Amino acid sequence: MSKQKYNKPRGMQDIFGDDQLIWTYIVSNFESLCKDAGLAKISTPIMENTELFSRAVGDSTEIVNKEMYTFEDRSGNSLTLRPEGTAGVVRAYIENGMSSMAKPVGLYYASEPVFRYERPQSGRYRQHHQLGIEILGDSSESTDVQVICLGARLLKNLNIKSKVSINSIGTIQDRNNYIEVLKTYFEKYINDLPEINQLQLQKNPLRILDTKDPDIIEIVEGAPSILDYLSKDSSAKFQAVLEMLEAYGVYYELNSRLVRGLDYYNDIVFEYISESGAGKDSLGGGGRYDGLISQMGGANTPAVGLGMGIERLKIEIDAMGFKPASKKTDVYVVAIGGLAVTEATIAREKLLDLGLSVGSNFTRKSISDQLSLASKKNSKYALIIGEKEAKEGRYILKDLTSGSQQALELESITDILKPS
Ligand code: HAM
Repeated sequence: MSKQKYNKPRGMQDIFGDDQLIWTYIVSNFESLCKDAGLAKISTPIMENTELFSRAVGDSTEIVNKEMYTFEDRSGNSLTLRPEGTAGVVRAYIENGMSSMAKPVGLYYASEPVFRYERPQSGRYRQHHQLGIEILGDSSESTDVQVICLGARLLKNLNIKSKVSINSIGTIQDRNNYIEVLKTYFEKYINDLPEINQLQLQKNPLRILDTKDPDIIEIVEGAPSILDYLSKDSSAKFQAVLEMLEAYGVYYELNSRLVRGLDYYNDIVFEYISESGAGKDSLGGGGRYDGLISQMGGANTPAVGLGMGIERLKIEIDAMGFKPASKKTDVYVVAIGGLAVTEATIAREKLLDLGLSVGSNFTRKSISDQLSLASKKNSKYALIIGEKEAKEGRYILKDLTSGSQQALELESITDILKPS
């Protein structure tokens, strides 16, 4: 046997078989919820000019510093495979003049590949795929609630037990005030902090709150809460969102250390956390980004959105042992012999033209073998063509439930089978 020469890149996956069924189940569920909510689908290029991501996501973030797949094209332009979906959508919104559309502009994207050079492990890949929503042009808390509820509804529809972890990081001014308070607090513990956190203290102390390092968790837990530094307006907005979530019945938990790993957020930030124990990372997350569109050169436009990782949703569904049913086969075409296979090939195409689902496998050289495949596929009918049937132009249509069969011309068969 020859040795396999090629492997997929580390941290990337082939998706096939039952995995594809689950994938489609997740994506179609999400798309149907987005359509019901009146959102329009958008696709953006898989890569953008590098500067878009470094400016939007933030120079001091892990994503921009360590995780981007960046390369020069043949003209020497620096391009980056998208490490998240929001920046590209914002760029497209500005570039295509969507600001002249009736507001808010509600967009969604589904199954978009996203690339981050992370250490691969379960639920953490170098290529993952996101479902996302971005609603631009509405600053009301009602939109925050709409976005959070849509993500929660998807999880509920997929039977994934989860809660929403939620926080407010206030306005830019609130955050800057809080950062000063945090600096003063963490400086007291500077000698206890690992090098990475000492660096974060210089560049962006909020990142220290993200730590999972058990050695400093106590210090981090003792840090002042951002909720005590919110302006009156941000505080009121946060309260309003929480009240609506409560009234509607979304299971949420306040987490004053939730700051998210991207720099563009203000006010509401949230993540969906699994309650099943199947995966350890967040299932999705998002928040408000009122400053990003103007920062990217567009008009001042408030916005809010979310992104969810399909792979992480799939881990939850796999852990439940759930398998979506594959589509039923309407008719299975069975043929033995040269002329019969030719006739069957044409018949199969005509049946497909009618919109029927059609199975066949002419590599199996016995009728009983092919019929057993038909029953494995749960086919309602078998269309059987042997040499005799091929010559006479009358094929056998067998009802696989009752076992009854009749010899008919293809025209009569299509009349019986065609969907009403
Ligand atoms: P994010 O939290 O960085 O947010 O990613 C969103 C989701 O993508 C995560 O919650 C997770 O489900 C999935 N994800 C992230 N990294 C990986 C990975 N390495 N492997 C597998 N899944 C992963 C964003 O990207 C924002 N753009 C979300 C957003 C949209 N905020 C506002 N609008």
